Amino acid sequence: MSRTHRITVLAGDGIGPEVMAEALRILDAIETRGNFNVARTAHLVGGAAIDATGHPLPPETLLACEQGNAILFGSVGGPRWEHLLPDLQPERGALLPLRKHFDLFANLRPGICLPALTHASPIKQEFIADGFNVLCVRELTGGIYFGSPKGRHEIQGEPVAFDTMIYKKSEIERIARVAFTAAMGRTKRLLSVDKANVLASSVLWRETLIEIAREFPEVELSHMYVDNAAMQLIRRPASFDVLVTENLFGDILSDEMAMISGSLGMLPSASLGNPGSNGLSFGMYEPSGGSAPDIAGKSLANPIAQILSLAMLLRFSLGETAAADSIENAVSLTIRDGFRTVDIATGRPDEIKVGTAAMGEAILARLDP
Ligand code: IPM
Ligand code: MG
Repeated sequence: MSRTHRITVLAGDGIGPEVMAEALRILDAIETRGNFNVARTAHLVGGAAIDATGHPLPPETLLACEQGNAILFGSVGGPRWEHLLPDLQPERGALLPLRKHFDLFANLRPGICLPALTHASPIKQEFIADGFNVLCVRELTGGIYFGSPKGRHEIQGEPVAFDTMIYKKSEIERIARVAFTAAMGRTKRLLSVDKANVLASSVLWRETLIEIAREFPEVELSHMYVDNAAMQLIRRPASFDVLVTENLFGDILSDEMAMISGSLGMLPSASLGNPGSNGLSFGMYEPSGGSAPDIAGKSLANPIAQILSLAMLLRFSLGETAAADSIENAVSLTIRDGFRTVDIATGRPDEIKVGTAAMGEAILARLDP
């Protein structure tokens, strides 16, 4: 009997729908090979949802997400909606509530620069000759993003505004376990990034990481202040493996990582809740890059980030490991064979310049039979 799963597809705005179309074609092909079935329902989110309903995350979209095992997310936002109040803007008004609603506290953001694509990185070639592969584990539902109180008022006639950076020990423990587990599956090194020389929340963060390390005696834990980490990432990205950090630091460092990898269009991400007894988590999977409204509809977007996000979904939420491996392998072969969308092209004569659909096609052709 074939296994059945259910996911919600939220393509969103900008390049979202066109890269999503390629990911769904891959999903069609991989289902028939893998003896499983993924039921999908597509719903509105972001600017598209604002235009249709007035809200970036309509209740019916949230309800649909609750029915599935995972959300495959495209991207949201664009200049059209930038004038709206922050909470009604596509990015903030959809992403933050989705993360909070499903308690998606563990954000996995790989920053990968393949040796064949180092030219696309803004970092000097001598520092990244062999490429690099960093995994940023970002705490996603705590810290200053959600801490209360936050607000704005007046003191002696002058406006003041404030946010609260707060962590419960249990919130740090659970993200630490995700990070240590990820490190176990890689080179068994974990770097915790904090600001323990200034922030009380970082002191608790560091203490807790040291405590949880006892559960993972094989993993070598080290610590770095966030300002130093920002420098070292540029100077010696290849020395990093898995790093774990709180929400705001992770927001900033993961963008830096994505930029220096030179291939924003190739980076997936996963936002995961607590794993169930079967080891699988409800999760939301999305490209690390944004909606790129400037290139939307021109068939220029690289669909690889969306396709690799699908692979992460199959791995972490559906347990379809063989299918995930097959997709990741097909992407590597496609790069090896020289296929390049404009974001990763150099103009070398051996490259095959392709648009969005042709890149999807090339990957499709390289899936295991
Ligand atoms: C991200 C984004 C979001 C964040 C914004 C859009 C709210 O920058 O996913 O990194 O800050 O988390
Ligand atoms: Mg960000």
